[in-house]
Amino acid sequence: MFSVSSISPSNIAIVKYWGKHGNQLPNNPSISFTLSRCHTETLLKASRNATDGYSLHFLFEGNESPKFKEKIEKYLIDNQQYFGFLKGLDIEIESSNSFPHSSGIASSAASMSALVLCLLKLEKYVNQDVTPVDLRKASMLSRLASGSAARSVYPVMALWGATPSVSDSSDDYAVPLADMVNPIFKSYHDSIMIVSNKEKSVSSRVGHSLMNGHPLAEQRYKTARDNTERLIKVLQCGDIQEFIEIAEAEALQLHEMMATSNPPYKLIEHNTLKIIDLVREYRHETNVPVCFTLDAGPNVHLLYPDDSDAQVKQFIKESILQYCNDYQYIDDVVQNEVKL
Ligand code: PMV
Repeated sequence: MFSVSSISPSNIAIVKYWGKHGNQLPNNPSISFTLSRCHTETLLKASRNATDGYSLHFLFEGNESPKFKEKIEKYLIDNQQYFGFLKGLDIEIESSNSFPHSSGIASSAASMSALVLCLLKLEKYVNQDVTPVDLRKASMLSRLASGSAARSVYPVMALWGATPSVSDSSDDYAVPLADMVNPIFKSYHDSIMIVSNKEKSVSSRVGHSLMNGHPLAEQRYKTARDNTERLIKVLQCGDIQEFIEIAEAEALQLHEMMATSNPPYKLIEHNTLKIIDLVREYRHETNVPVCFTLDAGPNVHLLYPDDSDAQVKQFIKESILQYCNDYQYIDDVVQNEVKL
Protein backbone atom coordinates (compact mmCIF):
# COMPACT_ATOMS: atom_id res chain seq x y z
CA MET A 1 0.00 0.00 0.00
CA PHE A 2 1.30 3.48 -0.79
CA SER A 3 -0.33 6.87 -0.54
CA VAL A 4 -0.07 10.36 -1.98
CA SER A 5 -1.91 13.54 -1.02
CA SER A 6 -2.64 16.98 -2.43
CA ILE A 7 -4.18 20.24 -1.44
CA SER A 8 -5.67 22.34 -4.19
CA PRO A 9 -7.42 25.68 -3.88
CA SER A 10 -10.60 27.11 -5.27
CA ASN A 11 -10.34 30.13 -7.55
CA ILE A 12 -12.52 33.11 -8.39
CA ALA A 13 -12.60 34.32 -11.98
CA ILE A 14 -12.42 38.03 -12.74
CA VAL A 15 -12.87 37.52 -16.50
CA LYS A 16 -15.37 34.67 -16.67
CA TYR A 17 -15.32 31.47 -18.67
CA TRP A 18 -18.89 30.87 -19.82
CA GLY A 19 -19.46 28.80 -22.93
CA LYS A 20 -17.36 25.94 -24.25
CA HIS A 21 -16.87 23.65 -27.26
CA GLY A 22 -15.15 20.40 -28.19
CA ASN A 23 -13.48 18.59 -25.33
CA GLN A 24 -13.81 21.20 -22.59
CA LEU A 25 -12.31 24.03 -24.64
CA PRO A 26 -13.26 27.57 -23.63
CA ASN A 27 -15.05 29.96 -25.99
CA ASN A 28 -13.10 32.85 -24.46
CA PRO A 29 -10.06 33.26 -22.22
CA SER A 30 -10.53 33.73 -18.47
CA ILE A 31 -8.41 35.05 -15.58
CA SER A 32 -8.76 34.19 -11.90
CA PHE A 33 -7.35 34.75 -8.45
CA THR A 34 -6.24 31.58 -6.71
CA LEU A 35 -7.65 31.44 -3.18
CA SER A 36 -5.83 30.14 -0.14
CA ARG A 37 -8.37 29.20 2.51
CA CYS A 38 -11.00 27.53 0.32
CA HIS A 39 -9.34 24.31 -0.74
CA THR A 40 -9.82 20.57 -1.14
CA GLU A 41 -7.49 18.09 0.48
CA THR A 42 -7.31 14.68 -1.18
CA LEU A 43 -5.60 11.51 -0.02
CA LEU A 44 -5.14 8.67 -2.48
CA LYS A 45 -4.09 5.19 -1.32
CA ALA A 46 -3.19 2.48 -3.80
CA SER A 47 -2.40 -1.21 -3.48
CA ARG A 48 -1.63 -3.82 -6.13
CA ASN A 49 -4.31 -6.27 -7.20
CA ALA A 50 -3.97 -9.40 -9.27
CA THR A 51 -5.96 -8.15 -12.27
CA ASP A 52 -5.16 -5.81 -15.12
CA GLY A 53 -8.07 -3.55 -14.24
CA TYR A 54 -8.43 -1.12 -11.35
CA SER A 55 -11.01 -0.58 -8.63
CA LEU A 56 -12.07 2.71 -7.08
CA HIS A 57 -13.41 3.45 -3.62
CA PHE A 58 -14.30 7.05 -2.85
CA LEU A 59 -15.14 8.87 0.39
CA PHE A 60 -16.10 12.53 0.69
CA GLU A 61 -15.67 13.88 4.22
CA GLY A 62 -15.79 10.35 5.56
CA ASN A 63 -18.95 9.29 3.70
CA GLU A 64 -19.63 7.42 0.48
CA SER A 65 -20.61 9.81 -2.31
CA PRO A 66 -22.02 7.84 -5.28
CA LYS A 67 -22.53 11.03 -7.31
CA PHE A 68 -18.92 12.16 -7.01
CA LYS A 69 -17.59 8.61 -7.43
CA GLU A 70 -19.52 8.31 -10.69
CA LYS A 71 -18.07 11.62 -11.87
CA ILE A 72 -14.52 10.41 -11.17
CA GLU A 73 -15.14 7.05 -12.85
CA LYS A 74 -16.52 8.76 -15.95
CA TYR A 75 -13.55 11.12 -16.03
CA LEU A 76 -11.07 8.23 -15.79
CA ILE A 77 -12.83 6.28 -18.56
CA ASP A 78 -13.24 9.30 -20.88
CA ASN A 79 -9.57 10.15 -20.49
CA GLN A 80 -8.13 6.65 -20.16
CA GLN A 81 -5.23 7.38 -22.51
CA TYR A 82 -3.67 9.41 -19.65
CA PHE A 83 -4.34 6.90 -16.88
CA GLY A 84 -2.84 3.60 -18.07
CA PHE A 85 -0.74 3.50 -14.88
CA LEU A 86 -3.89 2.70 -12.85
CA LYS A 87 -4.01 -0.84 -14.25
CA GLY A 88 -3.54 -3.46 -11.54
CA LEU A 89 -4.29 -1.06 -8.68
CA ASP A 90 -7.01 -0.81 -6.03
CA ILE A 91 -7.50 2.89 -5.39
CA GLU A 92 -9.04 4.51 -2.32
CA ILE A 93 -9.64 8.26 -2.48
CA GLU A 94 -10.65 10.41 0.48
CA SER A 95 -11.46 14.03 -0.09
CA SER A 96 -12.52 16.90 2.17
CA ASN A 97 -13.07 20.63 1.81
CA SER A 98 -11.74 23.36 4.08
CA PHE A 99 -14.94 25.35 3.62
CA PRO A 100 -18.34 24.30 4.96
CA HIS A 101 -19.94 21.70 2.72
CA SER A 102 -23.19 23.63 2.66
CA SER A 103 -21.74 27.08 2.03
CA GLY A 104 -22.84 27.12 -1.60
CA ILE A 105 -19.22 27.55 -2.71
CA ALA A 106 -18.51 25.73 -5.96
CA SER A 107 -15.91 23.14 -5.17
CA SER A 108 -15.30 21.43 -8.49
CA ALA A 109 -12.22 23.54 -9.35
CA ALA A 110 -10.56 22.64 -6.04
CA SER A 111 -11.71 19.04 -5.90
CA MET A 112 -10.91 18.09 -9.48
CA SER A 113 -7.47 19.73 -9.48
CA ALA A 114 -6.65 18.05 -6.13
CA LEU A 115 -7.68 14.71 -7.63
CA VAL A 116 -5.55 15.25 -10.75
CA LEU A 117 -2.51 16.25 -8.68
CA CYS A 118 -2.87 13.03 -6.66
CA LEU A 119 -3.18 10.96 -9.84
CA LEU A 120 -0.06 12.56 -11.31
CA LYS A 121 1.85 11.93 -8.08
CA LEU A 122 0.69 8.33 -8.20
CA GLU A 123 1.88 8.04 -11.81
CA LYS A 124 5.32 9.29 -10.73
CA TYR A 125 5.37 6.77 -7.87
CA VAL A 126 4.40 3.87 -10.17
CA ASN A 127 7.05 4.91 -12.72
CA GLN A 128 9.64 5.58 -9.99
CA ASP A 129 10.03 9.07 -11.40
CA VAL A 130 11.29 11.55 -8.80
CA THR A 131 10.85 14.71 -10.87
CA PRO A 132 8.17 17.20 -9.73
CA VAL A 133 4.65 17.12 -11.18
CA ASP A 134 4.39 19.05 -14.45
CA LEU A 135 1.90 21.81 -13.63
CA ARG A 136 1.00 22.39 -17.27
CA LYS A 137 -0.01 18.75 -17.60
CA ALA A 138 -1.87 19.00 -14.27
CA SER A 139 -3.70 22.05 -15.59
CA MET A 140 -4.60 20.33 -18.87
CA LEU A 141 -5.92 17.21 -17.09
CA SER A 142 -7.80 19.36 -14.56
CA ARG A 143 -9.42 21.25 -17.44
CA LEU A 144 -10.73 17.98 -18.83
CA ALA A 145 -12.42 17.34 -15.46
CA SER A 146 -13.83 20.84 -14.84
CA GLY A 147 -12.84 23.81 -17.00
CA SER A 148 -12.18 26.30 -14.22
CA ALA A 149 -10.04 23.69 -12.38
CA ALA A 150 -7.34 24.32 -15.04
CA ARG A 151 -6.57 27.61 -13.26
CA SER A 152 -6.34 26.20 -9.71
CA VAL A 153 -2.88 24.62 -10.01
CA TYR A 154 -1.01 27.94 -9.94
CA PRO A 155 -0.63 30.44 -7.08
CA VAL A 156 -1.70 34.12 -7.26
CA MET A 157 -3.45 34.36 -10.65
CA ALA A 158 -3.88 32.23 -13.74
CA LEU A 159 -4.96 32.75 -17.34
CA TRP A 160 -6.74 29.97 -19.22
CA GLY A 161 -7.32 30.45 -22.93
CA ALA A 162 -5.27 31.84 -25.81
CA THR A 163 -4.91 35.63 -25.84
CA PRO A 164 -2.56 37.73 -28.03
CA SER A 165 -0.45 39.43 -25.33
CA VAL A 166 0.59 36.25 -23.49
CA SER A 167 2.67 34.18 -25.89
CA ASP A 168 2.38 30.81 -24.14
CA SER A 169 -1.35 31.13 -23.37
CA SER A 170 -3.49 28.26 -24.60
CA ASP A 171 -7.02 26.91 -24.68
CA ASP A 172 -5.61 23.53 -23.59
CA TYR A 173 -4.22 24.59 -20.21
CA ALA A 174 -3.84 27.58 -17.94
CA VAL A 175 -0.60 29.50 -17.45
CA PRO A 176 0.57 31.30 -14.28
CA LEU A 177 0.41 35.10 -14.19
CA ALA A 178 2.23 35.60 -10.86
CA ASP A 179 5.38 36.97 -12.50
CA MET A 180 3.56 39.79 -14.25
CA VAL A 181 1.10 40.74 -11.50
CA ASN A 182 1.64 44.01 -9.62
CA PRO A 183 2.23 43.36 -5.86
CA ILE A 184 -1.01 45.15 -4.96
CA PHE A 185 -3.02 42.25 -6.43
CA LYS A 186 -0.96 39.62 -4.62
CA SER A 187 -2.30 40.93 -1.33
CA TYR A 188 -5.95 40.90 -2.43
CA HIS A 189 -8.70 39.68 -0.15
CA ASP A 190 -11.82 37.81 -1.23
CA SER A 191 -14.51 37.95 1.46
CA ILE A 192 -17.30 35.68 0.31
CA MET A 193 -20.77 36.73 1.45
CA ILE A 194 -22.90 33.60 1.74
CA VAL A 195 -26.31 34.75 0.54
CA SER A 196 -27.53 31.19 0.11
CA ASN A 197 -26.06 27.77 0.77
CA LYS A 198 -28.55 25.86 -1.37
CA GLU A 199 -27.43 23.83 -4.36
CA LYS A 200 -27.79 25.83 -7.60
CA SER A 201 -31.04 25.29 -9.52
CA VAL A 202 -29.15 25.17 -12.85
CA SER A 203 -25.70 23.54 -12.98
CA SER A 204 -22.72 25.15 -14.70
CA ARG A 205 -22.76 22.28 -17.19
CA VAL A 206 -26.27 23.28 -18.31
CA GLY A 207 -25.34 26.97 -18.15
CA HIS A 208 -22.39 26.49 -20.52
CA SER A 209 -24.58 24.54 -22.95
CA LEU A 210 -27.20 27.32 -23.00
CA MET A 211 -24.54 29.59 -24.53
CA ASN A 212 -24.81 27.49 -27.72
CA GLY A 213 -27.19 29.42 -29.95
CA HIS A 214 -27.52 32.22 -27.38
CA PRO A 215 -28.36 35.44 -29.30
CA LEU A 216 -25.75 37.45 -27.35
CA ALA A 217 -23.02 34.78 -27.32
CA GLU A 218 -20.69 36.26 -29.96
CA GLN A 219 -20.84 39.71 -28.39
CA ARG A 220 -20.15 38.16 -24.97
CA TYR A 221 -17.08 36.25 -26.23
CA LYS A 222 -15.73 39.40 -27.85
CA THR A 223 -16.21 41.43 -24.65
CA ALA A 224 -14.51 38.70 -22.62
CA ARG A 225 -11.56 38.62 -25.05
CA ASP A 226 -11.24 42.41 -24.84
CA ASN A 227 -11.57 42.33 -21.04
CA THR A 228 -8.83 39.69 -20.86
CA GLU A 229 -6.39 41.96 -22.70
CA ARG A 230 -7.49 44.99 -20.64
CA LEU A 231 -7.13 43.06 -17.38
CA ILE A 232 -3.64 41.82 -18.24
CA LYS A 233 -2.51 45.46 -18.62
CA VAL A 234 -4.31 46.45 -15.41
CA LEU A 235 -2.69 43.60 -13.49
CA GLN A 236 0.74 44.79 -14.63
CA CYS A 237 0.29 48.47 -13.86
CA GLY A 238 -1.83 48.07 -10.71
CA ASP A 239 -4.73 50.29 -11.85
CA ILE A 240 -7.35 49.40 -9.23
CA GLN A 241 -10.08 51.64 -10.68
CA GLU A 242 -10.01 49.86 -13.99
CA PHE A 243 -9.76 46.51 -12.22
CA ILE A 244 -13.03 47.37 -10.43
CA GLU A 245 -14.74 48.31 -13.71
CA ILE A 246 -13.76 45.05 -15.38
CA ALA A 247 -14.55 42.82 -12.39
CA GLU A 248 -18.05 44.19 -11.82
CA ALA A 249 -18.96 44.33 -15.51
CA GLU A 250 -17.85 40.70 -15.98
CA ALA A 251 -19.87 39.52 -12.97
CA LEU A 252 -23.04 41.24 -14.16
CA GLN A 253 -22.57 40.08 -17.73
CA LEU A 254 -22.27 36.46 -16.62
CA HIS A 255 -25.68 36.72 -14.93
CA GLU A 256 -27.15 38.65 -17.88
CA MET A 257 -26.24 35.69 -20.08
CA MET A 258 -28.31 33.48 -17.77
CA ALA A 259 -31.22 35.95 -17.74
CA THR A 260 -31.30 36.08 -21.56
CA SER A 261 -30.74 32.40 -22.39
CA ASN A 262 -33.45 30.09 -23.66
CA PRO A 263 -34.92 29.11 -21.24
CA PRO A 264 -33.94 32.10 -19.13
CA TYR A 265 -32.98 31.57 -15.49
CA LYS A 266 -31.53 33.47 -12.57
CA LEU A 267 -29.17 32.39 -9.81
CA ILE A 268 -28.85 35.75 -8.03
CA GLU A 269 -31.24 36.59 -5.22
CA HIS A 270 -32.74 39.71 -3.75
CA ASN A 271 -29.94 39.93 -1.16
CA THR A 272 -27.28 39.55 -3.89
CA LEU A 273 -28.55 42.77 -5.47
CA LYS A 274 -28.87 44.48 -2.09
CA ILE A 275 -25.22 43.72 -1.30
CA ILE A 276 -24.08 44.90 -4.76
CA ASP A 277 -25.89 48.23 -4.23
CA LEU A 278 -24.39 48.65 -0.76
CA VAL A 279 -20.85 47.94 -2.04
CA ARG A 280 -21.20 50.53 -4.79
CA GLU A 281 -22.66 53.13 -2.43
CA TYR A 282 -19.94 52.50 0.16
CA ARG A 283 -17.19 52.81 -2.45
CA HIS A 284 -18.69 56.01 -3.78
CA GLU A 285 -18.95 57.57 -0.32
CA THR A 286 -15.61 56.44 1.12
CA ASN A 287 -13.31 55.85 -1.89
CA VAL A 288 -12.35 52.50 -0.31
CA PRO A 289 -11.55 50.39 -3.41
CA VAL A 290 -13.76 47.41 -2.64
CA CYS A 291 -15.63 45.78 -5.51
CA PHE A 292 -17.69 42.67 -6.10
CA THR A 293 -17.68 39.70 -8.35
CA LEU A 294 -20.07 36.75 -8.64
CA ASP A 295 -19.59 33.12 -9.49
CA ALA A 296 -22.42 31.07 -11.01
CA GLY A 297 -24.50 31.53 -7.86
CA PRO A 298 -25.99 34.12 -5.48
CA ASN A 299 -22.97 34.59 -3.19
CA VAL A 300 -21.08 37.87 -3.46
CA HIS A 301 -17.27 37.94 -3.48
CA LEU A 302 -15.89 41.22 -2.13
CA LEU A 303 -12.45 41.95 -3.55
CA TYR A 304 -10.10 44.52 -2.00
CA PRO A 305 -6.41 45.20 -1.37
CA ASP A 306 -4.86 44.41 1.99
CA ASP A 307 -4.53 48.05 3.05
CA SER A 308 -8.34 48.38 3.00
CA ASP A 309 -8.84 45.28 5.13
CA ALA A 310 -9.81 46.94 8.42
CA GLN A 311 -12.29 49.33 6.78
CA VAL A 312 -13.92 46.67 4.62
CA LYS A 313 -14.25 44.26 7.57
CA GLN A 314 -16.05 46.96 9.53
CA PHE A 315 -18.33 47.66 6.55
CA ILE A 316 -19.08 43.94 6.21
CA LYS A 317 -20.00 43.60 9.88
CA GLU A 318 -22.06 46.76 10.08
CA SER A 319 -23.85 46.75 6.72
CA ILE A 320 -23.56 43.45 4.85
CA LEU A 321 -23.77 40.48 7.19
CA GLN A 322 -27.46 41.05 7.86
CA TYR A 323 -28.11 40.08 4.21
CA CYS A 324 -26.13 36.83 4.47
CA ASN A 325 -27.53 33.43 5.33
CA ASP A 326 -27.01 33.05 9.12
CA TYR A 327 -24.56 35.99 9.04
CA GLN A 328 -22.14 33.63 7.27
CA TYR A 329 -19.10 34.71 5.29
CA ILE A 330 -15.77 33.19 4.33
CA ASP A 331 -12.71 35.34 4.74
CA ASP A 332 -10.24 34.37 2.03
CA VAL A 333 -7.06 35.85 0.54
CA VAL A 334 -5.04 35.30 -2.61
CA GLN A 335 -2.72 32.33 -2.35
CA ASN A 336 0.91 33.22 -2.92
CA GLU A 337 2.69 29.83 -2.72
CA VAL A 338 2.17 26.50 -4.42
CA LYS A 339 1.05 23.95 -1.85
CA LEU A 340 0.31 20.99 -4.15
O1 PMV B 1 -15.55 25.03 -14.44
P1 PMV B 1 -17.01 25.07 -14.63
O2 PMV B 1 -17.45 24.23 -15.79
O3 PMV B 1 -17.73 24.74 -13.34
O4 PMV B 1 -17.44 26.56 -15.02
C1 PMV B 1 -17.19 27.64 -14.17
C2 PMV B 1 -17.73 28.89 -14.70
C3 PMV B 1 -17.65 30.09 -13.78
O5 PMV B 1 -17.28 29.71 -12.47
C4 PMV B 1 -19.00 30.76 -13.71
C5 PMV B 1 -16.67 31.12 -14.32
C6 PMV B 1 -15.22 30.79 -14.20
O6 PMV B 1 -14.47 31.18 -15.10
O7 PMV B 1 -14.80 30.19 -13.19
